[in-house]
Amino acid sequence: MELLISILLFTALIQILLVMIFTASKFLIPTKPVELIINNKEPVIIETGQTLLGALYNTDIFIPSACGGKGTCGYCKVKINDGGGSILPTELDFLDRIEKKEGIRLACQVKILNNIDISIPQHLLDVKEFISTVESTVQLTDDIIEINLAISQGNQIEYNCGQYIQVKIPHKDSPGGYLFRAYSIASSQFDSSKVTLNVKLIPDGIGSTWLHNLEHSQKVSFTGPYGDWNWNRSIDSDLVLIGGGVGMAPMRSIILSITQIDPNKKIFLYFGARAKKDLFYIDQFLTLQENFPNLHIIPALSEPLNTDNWNGETGFISTVFENRYTSSNHPQAFLCGPPLMIESAFISLEKKSFLPDNIFYDKF
Ligand SMILES: Cc1cc2nc3c(=O)[nH]c(=O)nc-3n(C[C@H](O)[C@H](O)[C@H](O)COP(=O)(O)OP(=O)(O)OC[C@H]3O[C@@H](n4cnc5c(N)ncnc54)[C@H](O)[C@@H]3O)c2cc1C
Ligand code: FES
Repeated sequence: MELLISILLFTALIQILLVMIFTASKFLIPTKPVELIINNKEPVIIETGQTLLGALYNTDIFIPSACGGKGTCGYCKVKINDGGGSILPTELDFLDRIEKKEGIRLACQVKILNNIDISIPQHLLDVKEFISTVESTVQLTDDIIEINLAISQGNQIEYNCGQYIQVKIPHKDSPGGYLFRAYSIASSQFDSSKVTLNVKLIPDGIGSTWLHNLEHSQKVSFTGPYGDWNWNRSIDSDLVLIGGGVGMAPMRSIILSITQIDPNKKIFLYFGARAKKDLFYIDQFLTLQENFPNLHIIPALSEPLNTDNWNGETGFISTVFENRYTSSNHPQAFLCGPPLMIESAFISLEKKSFLPDNIFYDKF
């Protein structure tokens, strides 16, 4: 108990010190122009005092930042060749030994103090900012809505199914007056003039509350696409999708896109929900299954209601997968849903000899 109290006190002390250092530096160190060099190109002039994440955004470079710069997602990694200072305690949990050695840092934690030289992979330099308009919203379950965004000015977004975007959420207490939240694209990748999102309302959640209150024709800015999942086009390799709740968003994009471009691909969707009312999109998936014999939809309810009259699979979705799936050659799996579901699905996939390199996931 004493050890626990000491650890808590020590952590609190470190955090108070960090806040004091950041606050003091804001007032004591005047801003000055410095050089930001990216991939050995011509330097860009930026101001000191901001984070590297903010400086990149102001330079129209939109690297992933799913937690909005809080240092809790670990997505905003960049390689610093020179000028980033020492790694902060807040970064340690997200960087492995090799990354630390190579100079990888969390851009949201790096404060610009002097000239800085960094490397960013090309695919992140291709990420763009889009302005869109709310075309429609649909209530899917008690707490999940579908939002259809039409991209403005004839612009189009090119992405691979399974990828996500980051929505710019107005928030007066955040630097610049906004923050970003990540949302998977739920529409077909071949419909590049719009994106569909499924958003679950989180009580007191900044981003989800704003999105749930959007009105028709309202403007929504977002950056994207992000995420590195890509499906194996070999015909022999099954694609196993295991998801639950709002994790169905990327699954819908994958199913709509792959049935369009590769109708012979064998796809197995294991769709976990509590009760029948949570199986949103199920009618659409079952209609697709009638037209695409290689698409297999397997819904399962963990807590069916008496009124559901449910004759299908029951229990946890990973157990249903284990009981029903017979392996193919080099199958790929994509998982999306709450952390506990992802962890148990991972164990089930390993029991079925899926290689870790062939398992992809988004946890939220
Ligand atoms: C790659 C990626 C893709 C994502 N795709 C989607 C998507 O398609 N649809 C979607 O709805 N969300 C998705 N998310 C989650 C989304 O980015 C936000 O984290 C979520 O909407 C909560 O943001 P918020 O601003 O409303 O809540 P915050 O203001 O960030 O959080 C408010 C409080 O709620 C807690 N909280 C945050 N998330 C949850 C949760 N899931 N359950 C319970 N408590 C929580 C926080 O700890 C905090 O205490 C995705 C996340 C990632 C990383
Ligand atoms: S850790 Fe989430 S944006 Fe940096």
